[in-house]
Amino acid sequence: MENKKLLKGFSKYSKEEKLSKIADWMSDPGIIEQLKSFWHQDKRIQKLIDEFSENTVSSFPFPYGVAPNFLINGKEYLVPMVIEESSVIAAASNSAKFWYQNGGFRAEVIGMKKIGQVHFIWSGSKEKLDYVFPELRAKLISQTASITANMVKRGGGILDLEIVDMTSDMPGYYQLKASFDTRDSMGANFINSCLEEFAFILREFFAESTYFEGSEKECQVVMSILSNYTPECLVKVSLETEIDSFSNIDNELTANQFVDKFAKAIRIAHVDVYRATTHNKGIFNGIDAVALATGNDFRAIEAAGHTYAARDGKYKSLTELTLQNGLFSYTLTLPLAIGTVGGLTALHPLAKLSLSMLGNPGAEELMKITASVGMANNFGAVKSLVTKGIQKGHMKMHLMNILNHFGATEAEKSSAFDYFKEHKVSFSAVQDYIEKIRAVSVTK
Ligand code: MEV
Repeated sequence: MENKKLLKGFSKYSKEEKLSKIADWMSDPGIIEQLKSFWHQDKRIQKLIDEFSENTVSSFPFPYGVAPNFLINGKEYLVPMVIEESSVIAAASNSAKFWYQNGGFRAEVIGMKKIGQVHFIWSGSKEKLDYVFPELRAKLISQTASITANMVKRGGGILDLEIVDMTSDMPGYYQLKASFDTRDSMGANFINSCLEEFAFILREFFAESTYFEGSEKECQVVMSILSNYTPECLVKVSLETEIDSFSNIDNELTANQFVDKFAKAIRIAHVDVYRATTHNKGIFNGIDAVALATGNDFRAIEAAGHTYAARDGKYKSLTELTLQNGLFSYTLTLPLAIGTVGGLTALHPLAKLSLSMLGNPGAEELMKITASVGMANNFGAVKSLVTKGIQKGHMKMHLMNILNHFGATEAEKSSAFDYFKEHKVSFSAVQDYIEKIRAVSVTK
């Protein structure tokens, strides 16, 4: 049967042609104007955004907000965040303000090492590989010099190369494992270029070496790719204050009661995987929002973070709490492979602006800022959860979305905001309220 809806060569069409193809496919001519209404008014900016990706026909606006009052290692920041979830920026800002008055965030970068692998199948023994490795290693370094030259000038480059024997997991499976310092760039392109060149050198080396014979001359490269798991590209954020600092945190709990419940919540996130996932999700609310605002790859960050959370074989909280000598000490440690040069960071006009708002940090400083925001969001979430719960604050923030869902006018919004100061927000409560005030205005 011929599939009439198959669109052949879609990517080859112009943007206008793609739009009319979509309209035909959907039998909806109106879709063209709807998609066009989100085009940027400045044609050059729209063209730039179009060219970031394939088959672009429109743009998808997200809220770009700012969380003020971040004090990190004694320096003040206004942090740009791109996020659609209504309460995330409010939570980050509230925490930032609390910690501004209680010592701020202390952050340190523990390492900057990134990993790439050439996965290959070879019939010989590890002993033979070890024997030829010094010669192979020298070739791998010297023959990639043209790729690494600029990175080396910036103080980075290839840090180490090793052969990993994986033959007990899969017959003939070895890895060439490489570690890199990519300085202020996230480094994915640099690492992958080096790896693909390594793969070529590796195949050539086996084929030409006089030390190998027969099938040993053949090396099957399965793939060459960076690893998004970066446990040695690590940042740690610490919050520390006297337990007494929490005496006004809640109307119903004393400082000791608050800290006791907080500690139990963190323990639960260590022992229960369902809670751990949500706990860590709250951290990534902040981290992803900064990653997006600065043009960084939030998927890579999330992948590394969740793997790190399971590094001991059990997925658990990325944060740790200690209570000792009247002190509340709370830490977050996670891998964060991000950059401030390369990729979209300098290309996307808003990513550029975000970096400028942050004082044009290098990668290490951005790691510290981003992790601090993740910590702020987590502290805010756990604080709410162990006190008044999150729904009150969340639904207050979400009220605007519900009102917009019902097409509320400015006057209706203002009256609803007054009313819901004293009443519980829910979708149906807002619907009832809007219907009621509309009925009253019709009868007037
Ligand atoms: C919601 O986006 C995030 C939280 O669920 C995080 C948490 O439970 O710790 C509030």
